Amino acid sequence: MASFSSSLKAILTLAFLVIFMGSSSAQLSTDFYSKSCPNLFSTVKSVVHSAIAKEARMGASLLRLFFHDCFVNGCDGSVLLDDTSSFTGEKRAAPNFNSARGFNVVDDIKSAVEKACPGVVSCADVLAIASRDSVVILGGPNWNVKLGRRDARTASQGAANNSIPRPTFNLNRLISSFNAVGLSTKEMVALAGAHTIGQARCTNFRARVYNETNIDSSFAQRRRGNCPRTTGSGDNNLAPLDLQTPTAFDNNYYKNLINRRGLLHSDQQFFNGGSTDSIVRSYSNSQGSFTSDFTAAMIKMGDISPLTGSKGEIRKNCRKIN
Ligand code: HEM
Repeated sequence: MASFSSSLKAILTLAFLVIFMGSSSAQLSTDFYSKSCPNLFSTVKSVVHSAIAKEARMGASLLRLFFHDCFVNGCDGSVLLDDTSSFTGEKRAAPNFNSARGFNVVDDIKSAVEKACPGVVSCADVLAIASRDSVVILGGPNWNVKLGRRDARTASQGAANNSIPRPTFNLNRLISSFNAVGLSTKEMVALAGAHTIGQARCTNFRARVYNETNIDSSFAQRRRGNCPRTTGSGDNNLAPLDLQTPTAFDNNYYKNLINRRGLLHSDQQFFNGGSTDSIVRSYSNSQGSFTSDFTAAMIKMGDISPLTGSKGEIRKNCRKIN
């Protein structure tokens, strides 16, 4: 009897530890800062609002930063770190160099948040909230952002080069890079709808508009107009990812794909006679199914390998470790 009750006690203790430790160390929650930083959401939103009022594209740039943060060792603010003597940061990785932007706005948000609640809110969470606010301000859907991420103490140029999908990828490689972080093919197509806002550089769409055949010819011609054929000339010239409404978060991205007006090679891969055509068709027909799948997938992307509990730190300055 005594040994039965002591083994029952051991089992219960173990179960408690598994459940309690599991949830306290790895779970994000929407009310994480409700006591420690009650004005967090309004503080972030007002800075994002003025940044977008100044330049509408900034909403797109912030959303992309969150994607590039989450795909590289999880959503841990690593993309925000400047280079140091001990590591080369992610800002210098190919997908980010001369391309990722919005770091000054993240600094402005972080300063405002530090003023309201010093040393409490991570840069990784600031980016998660700023992305949601950007989507909402540009007319897209709202969602409750899960919080409680802590900031990485290191960054990896190599990991960024390996983990962030490239515009040259074919469908299978795109699928594998999303699968590698636990996101499904359907979630990938929903998340790619983020290309309803923002801009891309000629260097990333030159080959598509000059060499590809699954492209609307008048669209290709128009884009060639501001993207010279020769590599090295006009590389940084910009074109909107969504030719119709580049500062409105809507489902036009999918309508463009059906008309073979995807700007990037990777965009058009989602509607090119393959397994994702039906998903593109359904999002192009229904703004509602796009927005509900997009928000669910954003929450899932935000859940990628967060640092929680006592891991990482709450950075004071998003550009450097404490
Ligand atoms: C499917 C794989 C993806 C590829 C290959 C890809 C690639 C790219 C490329 C090449 C650019 C243009 C960068 C430049 O020319 O400087 C870009 C821009 C952008 N991407 Fe993606 N992307 C992908 C998925 C996503 C996802 C999942 C999101 C967010 C959820 C996202 C958000 C954005 C935004 C908003 C911009 C515009 C940024 C700005 O105007 O500053 N992308 N992407």
